[in-house]
Amino acid sequence: MSFPWAKHYEPKAPLMRWLDEKLPLPRLVYNSIGAGYPVPRNLNYAWNFGVLAGFCLVLQIVTGVILAMHYAANAGVAFDSVEHIMRDVNWGWLLRYAHANGASFFFVVIYIHIFRGFFYSSYKAPREMVWLLGVVIFLLMMATAFMGYVLPWGQMSFWGAKVITGLFGAIPLVGESIQVWLLGGYAPDNAALNRFFSLHFLLPFVIAGVVILHIWALHIPGSSNPTGVEVKSESDTIPFHPYYTAKDGFGLGVALILYFTFVFYLPNALGHADNYIPANPLSTPAHIVPEWYFWPFYAILRAFTADFILPAKLWGVLAMFAAILVWFFLPWLDKSPVRSGHYRPLFRKFFWFGLIPAMLVLFYCGGAAAEEPYVMISQIATAYYFLHFLVILPIISSIEKPEPLPFSITEAVLGTDTQAVLSDNTTPAN
Ligand code: HEM
Repeated sequence: MSFPWAKHYEPKAPLMRWLDEKLPLPRLVYNSIGAGYPVPRNLNYAWNFGVLAGFCLVLQIVTGVILAMHYAANAGVAFDSVEHIMRDVNWGWLLRYAHANGASFFFVVIYIHIFRGFFYSSYKAPREMVWLLGVVIFLLMMATAFMGYVLPWGQMSFWGAKVITGLFGAIPLVGESIQVWLLGGYAPDNAALNRFFSLHFLLPFVIAGVVILHIWALHIPGSSNPTGVEVKSESDTIPFHPYYTAKDGFGLGVALILYFTFVFYLPNALGHADNYIPANPLSTPAHIVPEWYFWPFYAILRAFTADFILPAKLWGVLAMFAAILVWFFLPWLDKSPVRSGHYRPLFRKFFWFGLIPAMLVLFYCGGAAAEEPYVMISQIATAYYFLHFLVILPIISSIEKPEPLPFSITEAVLGTDTQAVLSDNTTPAN
């Protein structure tokens, strides 16, 4: 929303005046992430993660494009080309560790960004489109990460590709043809590796495009905030620059310390040792596990063990996709007029003691072997996961009595005696 009190861009230098007339790019930056964009004054650190996600995307694109200059997408030499990058290419080890750990970091950041959205109901009107585009980004990220993991052509690359593309084989009648069509053969081989490389290179740019739409959609209503109360007056906001550029800069500094701790000191901690063994179609690893960020969804996939009308495997595939697709309906499943979990006592309890533990359990079980008791525990957690979104959330949002909300963001920040501030500073919002 363009608030009436937003500062206007006035270029002073002749060059900037000329540029503003020909291509008003500096104006766009000023109004989007500069002093011309008023933002709620009470954003907490949970609001840092959008900018951090943007940083991760740029980092992945830059390191990935350079890696692609030395990587060979051919099943005969792919594994060796990665070793060549690690040993012979100047700073190749750093590029590769930065990219592999960058993927993990991106997912840490995105999971926090999404769960911030769950807790503060950022998906609610008027930000439904921001949320929907976010879910599209998440799906694209998962596809990109899956295909990226196949590229080193190690044992986990090969068997991961085999298991995941094998899931399409569960579709009745046409499944097998789809699987062969996707792979370009009956098993992952050169054709599959080549198309995965091509798409892995392309998709991050598609993600970048959707991120632009995501931020565009966000700038129409403006950011929400921890109270969930919308901006009412100028005193509720501060300019993005310098306040949030400084806060985001600080957050980025802390995040980089953590990230580089992994890159330099624990570069393989998040990977799987089997991926340092070249792909071998004749030797199946004891446990085929995807990367950690897929574990909750992998646990849901494996939670279905009995055939019932459809084969168990197909139920697993449907449930795994449904676990993400259900997020698309959140703006309409949660009917509470109150956004922030801070003022929703019942919602808060189910969030902290229901959804979060269920996700953690699924996460743990997805990384564990497919045996008891993990399968049974996954089944219970999967049942809760769907119950939470499809039944509990709609019910609590209609029966819950929210706690009193502050009149305004200013009141929430400065206490109840805000009349003086407001009478000095009030300009009605659009
Ligand atoms: C490459 C991935 C992504 C990037 C770069 C990105 C970027 C951003 C940025 C910069 C913001 C504003 C700052 C903030 O609120 O943190 C934002 C807000 C938001 N994002 Fe994302 N995002 C990404 C993925 C996602 C995903 C996967 C979802 C949800 C499934 C999502 C949902 C939201 C929502 C609902 C908001 C508005 C929050 C509010 O104002 O309360 N985003 N995003």
